[in-house]
Amino acid sequence: MKRNGATLKPRSGYVAALDIGTTKICCLIAKPHVDRGPYGGGGPKVVGIGTHQAHGIRNGAIVDMDAAEHAIRAAVERAEQMVGDNIERVVINVSGGKPKSKLVSCEVSIGGHGITEHDMRRLLDPSVLLKDKPEDREIVHKLPVGFSVDGNRGVRDPIGMYGEMLGVNVHVVTAQTAPLRNLNAVVERCHLHVDAMVVSPFASALSCLVDDEKKMGAACIDIGGGTTGIALFFDGELVHTDVIPVGGNHITNDIARGLSTPFGHAERMKNLYGTCLPSASDDAEVIQVPLVGEDDETGTVQVPRSMLVGIIRPRVEEIIDLARERLDKAGFGQLAGRVVLTGGTSQLTGISEMASQAFSHHVRLASPRPIEGLAEAVAGPAFAAASGLLQYAVAAAEVPIEAEMNMTQPPNGLLGRIGHWLRENF
Ligand SMILES: Nc1ncnc2c1ncn2[C@@H]1O[C@H](COP(=O)(O)OP(=O)(O)OP(=O)(O)O)[C@@H](O)[C@H]1O
Ligand SMILES: [Mg+2]
Repeated sequence: MKRNGATLKPRSGYVAALDIGTTKICCLIAKPHVDRGPYGGGGPKVVGIGTHQAHGIRNGAIVDMDAAEHAIRAAVERAEQMVGDNIERVVINVSGGKPKSKLVSCEVSIGGHGITEHDMRRLLDPSVLLKDKPEDREIVHKLPVGFSVDGNRGVRDPIGMYGEMLGVNVHVVTAQTAPLRNLNAVVERCHLHVDAMVVSPFASALSCLVDDEKKMGAACIDIGGGTTGIALFFDGELVHTDVIPVGGNHITNDIARGLSTPFGHAERMKNLYGTCLPSASDDAEVIQVPLVGEDDETGTVQVPRSMLVGIIRPRVEEIIDLARERLDKAGFGQLAGRVVLTGGTSQLTGISEMASQAFSHHVRLASPRPIEGLAEAVAGPAFAAASGLLQYAVAAAEVPIEAEMNMTQPPNGLLGRIGHWLRENF
C-alpha cells in the first residue's frame, strides 16, 4: 500500500497518533470505541502499529525534511498495512520549537447577575490571551485551569453562578512558529492532515499519571533520546510543561567519545551494562570495548565497568538537575508532589534512585497505561508519548476538534466538565 494522494479515501472509523521522536517514529491507529457488550465498556482498541527508526530529527525538531518524511511514511505505512486501510488525519507531538508555558489570568465584571455563556466568551477573549505572545511563536495549547467567582477559587463550572467578578487562569503553551511549520509540513508531505498538536510531555503524562497523581500534584518527566520533557499537573490540570534538549543520546555520545568506540557499540554497552549506580565490584568487572575505526580482535581494549559508570553518571546527574531546576522554577517544590519517570532512558539502571535523591522524594518508574491491542513491544516507557497521543485522539474524537493547530483543546479535565460550548467557542 503506497502512500499517495490518489489512494487516500475518507476514513472516519479510526483515530491515529504519530509520535515523532528523536530516535523512533511510532504510529498507532485505533478504533476509538469498541463495543464489548453490556458489561465490557467501550474503550479504544489499537488495530495498527508501525514503528521506524527516526531520521532527520534532532533534539525533537526536524532538521532534514526528506529524511524525516521517509521515516514517518515508513512508520505510518506499517501501521496502515496492519489495518488494511489508509488513515488521513493524525494527532502529533511537539518537542521542538522550545515549548514554553505561561499562566495568564483574565477577569471580567458580571455585575451580580447569573453567569452566562456570553460572560465566559468575554472572559476567554483570545485577544487578551494573545496580547503578550511574541511574534515568532504560536499557541499550541490554551487550557483553562481554574475559574474564580469574586476571588473564590476552585470553581469548576461557573455558568449559572452569581457574583460581581469572574476570573480564570489559562495555561498557554507556545512554541516557535518555524519548527511548528516544519513539523506540519513534513506530516502533510506524507498526505496526512494534522488534527492536533500536543506538546510531548503532556502526551506522556496523559498515559503515565494516574488520576490521583494529577489531583495531588505530580511531575511526569519523559527522558527520551534527544529531549527531556516535563509536565506538571496540579488539582487535576496541566499547569506547566517544558522540553529540555538533552536525553539518552547524549549519554551514548559521551560513552562513544570517552571510550573511542563506535556509536552503535556505545549504545549497546549503555543498554546492556550501563548503570548510574557505582558498586564495589565495578573495578573488577571488565568490559571488552572495540575501538572506533578498528574492526579486528586486536582493536579492542578492556575497560573496567567503573569507567562506564564514571561516564554515564555525570550526564544523568545533569539531566536530572536540569529537570529539577525547571520544575522548581515552576513551583513544583511548594507542591511537594510526586515524580514519575518515563521515556526510553528511564530504563537505565539506577536512574530512579538518582532521581529520588535529587528530588528528595520517591520516584515512580512508569510505562503507559495498557490499551487493548497494544503489543508488548510498544508498551514500554519509550512509548508513553505515542500512547498519550492516542488517548488524546480518542477523547477528541468524542467531540470533533478544531482542525486548526492553534485551536487544540485538551480532551480531559476542565473542558470536559464545563460543557460543549467552551470546546466550540474558545
Ligand atoms: N535499557 C536501556 N537503558 C538505557 N537507555 C535506554 C534503554 N533502552 C533505550 N534507551 C535509550 O532511550 C532513548 C530513546 O528513548 P525514546 O524512545 O523515549 O526517545 P524518543 O521518543 O525517540 O526521543 P525524544 O522523545 O527525545 O524526541 C535512547 O537514547 C536509548 O538509548
Ligand atoms: Mg519521545
